[in-house]
Amino acid sequence: MQFKGRDIVSIKDFTREEIDYILKTAAAMEPIAKSGSDMLHGKILATLFFEPSTRTRLSFEAAMNKLGGTTIGFAEPKVAAIKKGENLADTIRVVENYADVLVLRHPLEGAARLAAEFSDVPVINAGSGAEEHPTQALLDLYTILKEKGTIDELNITLMGDLRYGRTVHSLAYALSLYKVNLFLVSPEILRMRREVSDAIKKRIKIVEGTEVGEVLPETDVLYVTRIQEERFPDPAEYAKVRGTYKIGVATLQDAKEDMIIMHPLPRVDEIDHEVDNTRHARYFQQVWNGIVTRTALLALILGAKK
Ligand code: NCD
Repeated sequence: MQFKGRDIVSIKDFTREEIDYILKTAAAMEPIAKSGSDMLHGKILATLFFEPSTRTRLSFEAAMNKLGGTTIGFAEPKVAAIKKGENLADTIRVVENYADVLVLRHPLEGAARLAAEFSDVPVINAGSGAEEHPTQALLDLYTILKEKGTIDELNITLMGDLRYGRTVHSLAYALSLYKVNLFLVSPEILRMRREVSDAIKKRIKIVEGTEVGEVLPETDVLYVTRIQEERFPDPAEYAKVRGTYKIGVATLQDAKEDMIIMHPLPRVDEIDHEVDNTRHARYFQQVWNGIVTRTALLALILGAKK
């Protein structure tokens, strides 16, 4: 398996064997992610964030620092030359000279693919519009595996904004490589993008619905997402769905004892804060798993780990 020098643009570029290998590497990296190492000493990671982020950017930076590397970049395109009208291809052709790996978040679908075509150093997609967020999917899979001991044979419910949420697109593609049943729960207008549901239907069983109560008793993993207000073309459409679903302690009465709840964060109002103290909540554990998974990815891509 060859990871050195690879881009991570779409989760669809990876086979199940490759994903399993990344998850295995992540498990082996847990102690290093805690105590640190100098594995990537002298290497530079550049973060190019054209959209807001807390976790993804900071966790890539933390992961790089943990491995002894350094980071440069911007989180605010207003301060970069983009403000002067520089196009993405030129920005990439400049920044690739400064760094060994680029991490890009951009509001446009296809931006990461374009950047990867222009860059000689590997490009990691940290979110391309509403399209994909592959490293989030990897840390989500890692969390499921760590918590449940398996991904196969689980009933997994993706709930929330399945239309504009990029994390659920990457996660759905990835899960379709495993033997899972997938329940897709959303308000009607936020149903899973057709291109995603059509692709995954060929491999696994999916059931789409609007009421989480119908699938909750069978669910092993409940993955909740925020409504992506900023991606709605029409504010009136957002107003219709705002606050239409919420997981509270009462909702969880029918849930399996060992069901886990995940969320890529940030949360707005879709999971009640009371749920944080239940045995189900795992969304803050996901944050740590994000660092662990990203240390594994950086070590593999930069050739420090085979
Ligand atoms: C997500 C994103 O940016 O797509 N956040 C993240 O990376 N953890 C989810 C979101 O913004 O709702």
